[in-house]
Amino acid sequence: MIRAGRLALLLSGLLLAAGAGAARDAKGSAEAQVALGRRLFHDGDLSINGTLSCATCHDPRHSFADGVRAHPGAHGEAGLRNVPSLVNVGSLSPLTWGNAGLTTLELQAMVPITGEDPVEMGMKGQEAELARRLSANHCYRKLFRASFPATRGRIDFASVAAALAAFQRTIVSHDTAWDRAAAGGPPLAGAAARGEALFRGKAGCAGCHAGREFTDLAFHRLPGEPETPENGDFGLARVTGRSEDRGRFRTPSLRNVALTAPYLHDGSADTIAAVLARHGAALSPAEAGDIEAFLGDLNDTQVTHNAAYARPGRSCEVS
Ligand code: HEC
Ligand code: HEC
Repeated sequence: MIRAGRLALLLSGLLLAAGAGAARDAKGSAEAQVALGRRLFHDGDLSINGTLSCATCHDPRHSFADGVRAHPGAHGEAGLRNVPSLVNVGSLSPLTWGNAGLTTLELQAMVPITGEDPVEMGMKGQEAELARRLSANHCYRKLFRASFPATRGRIDFASVAAALAAFQRTIVSHDTAWDRAAAGGPPLAGAAARGEALFRGKAGCAGCHAGREFTDLAFHRLPGEPETPENGDFGLARVTGRSEDRGRFRTPSLRNVALTAPYLHDGSADTIAAVLARHGAALSPAEAGDIEAFLGDLNDTQVTHNAAYARPGRSCEVS
């Protein structure tokens, strides 16, 4: 039960020990870190057998999710949870569906790379192998040096995690119909306007899906969450071991939600209507339709088509 929690502690120890400042290298070029992070994000060499990059599961064109219930790991192990979008992830903490200890993107990055519960990229104990692979590439050597001059561009888990975090902090979307209305632009109209009124009023959605990112970053148990989940995933209780945390999951952001089906931590809901049923929300079909129209106004397709997030080409960002 407490495996994942211990993992987070272990990882923070690892990053503090090995990092020795890599994560906050003041002299490093922020631009180089972002360029490096983008390369790493799209690189299959971060997985043991080259089959998985971060982008395999977090596909930019899919709003940094993948459209399947749960993505298998590098060796084909079944995935446990649905892949969340990474839009505005730099504003979210804690991270993931059910771990209050994963407070930074640097810490979180080590979970897919070295985690064993489940195995995703399968690189536990492979720090030297990762350094060997990456240092074989000229461009990586230059980018690590420009990013982390204090350690002369040392390639280790800490510098990889720091660069991935720098890139992920650039995945920002605040240009939706809703954002424009909030900034004094044309107000939402028709079904979307009725949907927002329901969302903030009678339907009570905004109590949890609060603020600009539509999440209170807290853990809740939905009324429709099964007592004994099929995949054995007890949410926050996996980490804390406390029975009162069974079935509690972090409220997800709703940005780009119309682009990221299937939904919920287990990917078990194919439609917004199925999500609302799991919430136990008593809404007429017309009201549910209005809420769905409102959620559609949280879409930003700029972010899914932004060339700055795509797989980088061959030519190196630094000379
Ligand atoms: C095999 C698929 C897979 C791969 C590969 C993968 N992820 Fe994830 N990612 C997930 C899943 C599933 C979750 C949710 C995990 C959970 O809640 O326990 C997640 C969660 C996250 C989160 C938390 C988002 C939030 O809203 O809290 C971040 C950040 C993230 N991943 C970044 C990365 C990075 C960086 C990489 C590459 C080093 C990566 N992921 C590789 C599947 C994957
Ligand atoms: C008590 C807090 C709470 C309230 C109130 C609430 N939600 Fe949620 N919502 C959550 C949690 C927690 C999850 C994730 C549950 C899970 O994965 O099992 C979630 C998941 C979702 C999802 C799926 C997002 C995804 O990416 O998988 C949508 C859509 C959603 N809620 C919309 C709504 C709407 C619309 C309302 C109002 C009718 C609402 N929620 C009310 C807490 C809440």
